[in-house]
Amino acid sequence: MFSELKPLPTDPILGLMAAFKQDTNPKKIDLGVGVYKDEQGNTPVLKAVKKAEAFRLENETSKSYIGLAGNLDYCQKMENLLLGEHPALLANRVRTAQAPGGTGALRVAAEFIKRCNKDATVWVTTPTWANHISLFEAAGLTVKEYPYYDYENKDLLFDDMINTLKQVPKGDVVLFHACCHNPSGMDLNAEQWSTVADLAVEVGFTPLVDIAYQGFGSSLEEDAAGLRKLAAAVDELIICSSCSKNFGLYRERIGACSIIAKDAATADISNSVLLSVVRSIYSMPPAHGADIVSTILGSTELTQMWHDELDEMRNRINGLRTLIKESLAAKGIEQDFSFIDRQNGMFSFLGINKEQIERLQKEYSIYIVGSSRVNVAGISDANIDYFANAVADVCK
Ligand code: LMR
Repeated sequence: MFSELKPLPTDPILGLMAAFKQDTNPKKIDLGVGVYKDEQGNTPVLKAVKKAEAFRLENETSKSYIGLAGNLDYCQKMENLLLGEHPALLANRVRTAQAPGGTGALRVAAEFIKRCNKDATVWVTTPTWANHISLFEAAGLTVKEYPYYDYENKDLLFDDMINTLKQVPKGDVVLFHACCHNPSGMDLNAEQWSTVADLAVEVGFTPLVDIAYQGFGSSLEEDAAGLRKLAAAVDELIICSSCSKNFGLYRERIGACSIIAKDAATADISNSVLLSVVRSIYSMPPAHGADIVSTILGSTELTQMWHDELDEMRNRINGLRTLIKESLAAKGIEQDFSFIDRQNGMFSFLGINKEQIERLQKEYSIYIVGSSRVNVAGISDANIDYFANAVADVCK
């Protein structure tokens, strides 16, 4: 049976991570996988996480199963983090299942959508996170794309986006990135979110909001503002969230899938389906990541510590965006890179071609995704000059 299999290419993001590890050039720079790095190039465990882990180690009393929805305290705290004091929460219309990372949450959402309507199409932005399309297709759903990023003007194709979304059949699902669009860094503004919310009501599609970078754009509150606006407008919405980036819990695989239904009774029914999906995929989620997040969010002191650390990560990334813009401009490169400073989160497209990307890797050991997506956090004061010179060279 196995001999029938054909080898597959490595994942465009994770393959790069492996290639970087093997590179022996001391000047190598990893701008590939979306992982926060400090000035020294490390991805440290947050202090708030360390403290919460120490607390859990002392106080955990059992390793028994935690149930299909996972840690219920975590689920409730995630709902508050995502939605604030939202009318949907006050009306008891929200149900949440802890999930193994944002990707686990998306897979649960995909199976849930299939149970609601096996013929539903999921619409994603062009471009989107490389794994979105394969993930929904692997679950047996059809995926179509809607215009989003204007590669030429480094802006949103908002009118084209709205014109396409007007044609989406009722009952389809439209995926939105809440903030820090992966891979373009280009987000909707408040007015554009209002237009999208009105359109969702008018057209009757179900929004699915992927929120993997809350706190990395402007603030925890502002990064969720579009999601909250959508949730206030529509009867039904799906949220896939992740604590990988904002809590730095990447390898703990901790996220959540939340369903907002039109009323409490429908929310209960939806929840029973959600939990049945969980049972059929992985039975129950792991405990550790959720315990850490609920411990942090349950303590005023640890929450403040986490907020400070999150602010530090965001401020560093925003500072690096300005540094990259200025350093590239100082090298006299003809191409304009000022858009990098206008975009949000970890990623932007450099906007260079395949050959230039390959030269960066081959000649300079600078690793960026084949789409020209760079993880801004991989830049530091120590490597910015090397990076800017390399980009200037390949852009000559
Ligand atoms: C990324 O986009 O680099 C991250 O979300 C990591 C991943 O799994 O692709």
